Amino acid sequence: MIFEKSNLLRSKSHDLIPGGCHTYAKGDDQYPALSPGFIQRGKGCHVWDVDGNEYIEYGMGLRAVTLGHAFPPVIEAATRQLRLGSNFVRPSPLELECAEELLSQIEGAEMVKFGKNGSDVTSAAVRLSRAFTGRDMVAICAEHPFYSVDDWFIGTTPMSAGIPKTVSELTVKFHYNDIGSVESLFQRHHGKIACVILEPEKDKPPEKNFLHELQKVCHREGSVFILDEIITGFRWHLGGGQKFHHIIPDLSAFGKALGNGFSIAALTGKKEIMELGGIRHNRERVFLLSLTHGAETHSLAAALEVMRIYRNEPVIETLWQQGQRLLDGINNSIREHGLQGYFEVIGRPCCLVYATRDLSMQPSQHFRALFLQETIRRGILAPSFVVSYSHTNEDIDQTVEAVHEALAVYKKALDDGVEKYLVGPPVKPVFRKFA
Ligand SMILES: Cc1ncc(COP(=O)(O)O)c(C=O)c1O
Repeated sequence: MIFEKSNLLRSKSHDLIPGGCHTYAKGDDQYPALSPGFIQRGKGCHVWDVDGNEYIEYGMGLRAVTLGHAFPPVIEAATRQLRLGSNFVRPSPLELECAEELLSQIEGAEMVKFGKNGSDVTSAAVRLSRAFTGRDMVAICAEHPFYSVDDWFIGTTPMSAGIPKTVSELTVKFHYNDIGSVESLFQRHHGKIACVILEPEKDKPPEKNFLHELQKVCHREGSVFILDEIITGFRWHLGGGQKFHHIIPDLSAFGKALGNGFSIAALTGKKEIMELGGIRHNRERVFLLSLTHGAETHSLAAALEVMRIYRNEPVIETLWQQGQRLLDGINNSIREHGLQGYFEVIGRPCCLVYATRDLSMQPSQHFRALFLQETIRRGILAPSFVVSYSHTNEDIDQTVEAVHEALAVYKKALDDGVEKYLVGPPVKPVFRKFA
C-alpha cells in the first residue's frame, strides 16, 4: 500500500493546522506511520484515501455515521433543503418538526433544544443544572472518557492547560457501578453538586441497578440527573441507552448518530428545567444554546430523515446483529491464535472497541499501533469495531479474515518483540500533558 499523497499532505497540514487536523482522535499520533493520512471519499462503510487505497471502515465519523457514508435518502433530504436556503432571520418550521419527531422517540423528554456538536448540549445541560439548583459543582463518571470540549470537563484531564484551577476544581468524579463512591461525593460536597452526568453505559453494563440507584441518590440530594447519550443514542435502542435500561433522566444529550454525519445535537429533558432557557417564566433567564448555526435547515432535514429511517427500517437490529457477527468471528480468531487476554474485543455488539496488551498483559500502545498497521495493510481501517447499517455480511467476513491475519503478526510480535514488526513510533493517548 502506498501513502505518497497522504505523507505529502501530512507534513504540510502540521505547518498550517495545530495538530494537523480538527479532531484529536483523527490525528497522526493516533495512527501508525503506515496509514492513510487523509480520506478523500466514502460510500456505505467503504472509504478511499487520497492515494486511492480502499478500506472497510469502522467507527465511521467517530461514530457519527451510523447509516453509512453518503447515505442516499439522507443526502437527498439535506440537498432538497439546501436548495431552499439553510439559515434565515427567523426560525424554520423544520425546527418544530424535528423537535416533535425527536420528542416522540425519547420517552419522558418534554422539550428539546438543538445545537451542532455533542459538547454544545452536554455543556448546556451543565449550565442549566447549575442555574436550576443554584449550585456550582458537577459530578462526572470517571470511567467515561469524554463529555465536552468545554472547561468544566477538559479541566479534569491531563490537557488542562489554559483552564483556571478554580474551574477544574468544580468538577468531581465518581466510579461506574460504585454507588459508595457517589454517596461519598455527596457527603464531601453536601448541597454543592448541581448535577451528575454519565453515559448510560460504556464498556461495562450497569450492575446492581446502578443507574437507578444513582438517580435515587441524585434526586435525594436535589441534583439534576443527566445522561450523555451522544454515543448510546440511536445505537443501543431507538429510545437511547435510557430506554434500553428503563430509566428516564432529567436531561439527556444526543448528537453523533442523529445527523448521520451532518452537524446536529440535541438537549432534551423535563419542561420544569428546560423552560429556564425560555421566555415564558419569571425566574432568572438561562442563556441556553443560542447559536448562529444552531438550527441550519439542511442538518435538521437530515436528522428528520435519519429518524424516519430508524423508525421504519431495522437499523438498531442490524447494528447489534452485524456487531455480533464480527465479535464471534474475531473471538474465534483470538482463540485459534491463543491470544486470549492479549487482544480483546470489548463492549456491546452495537458499539465494540478493542484492547491491545503486551506480553505482561499490560495495555500497549505499541501493540495497538501494530494491530492498526496490519489491518490497514489488509484494507481495514478500524480504530474501533463500531459497525454501521451499511456493513454487509461480506464486509464483516472480509474483516474477520483480515483480522485473523493481523493477529498472526500480533502473536509473532509477542514472541519476537513488537519493534521487529511495527514501522515507526507507537500511537499515543489523546489526553496527555506533553506532545
Ligand atoms: C460520550 C460523548 N459525549 C460528548 C461528546 C462530545 O461531542 P462533540 O465531539 O460532538 O462535541 C463526545 C464526543 O466524542 C462523546 O463521545
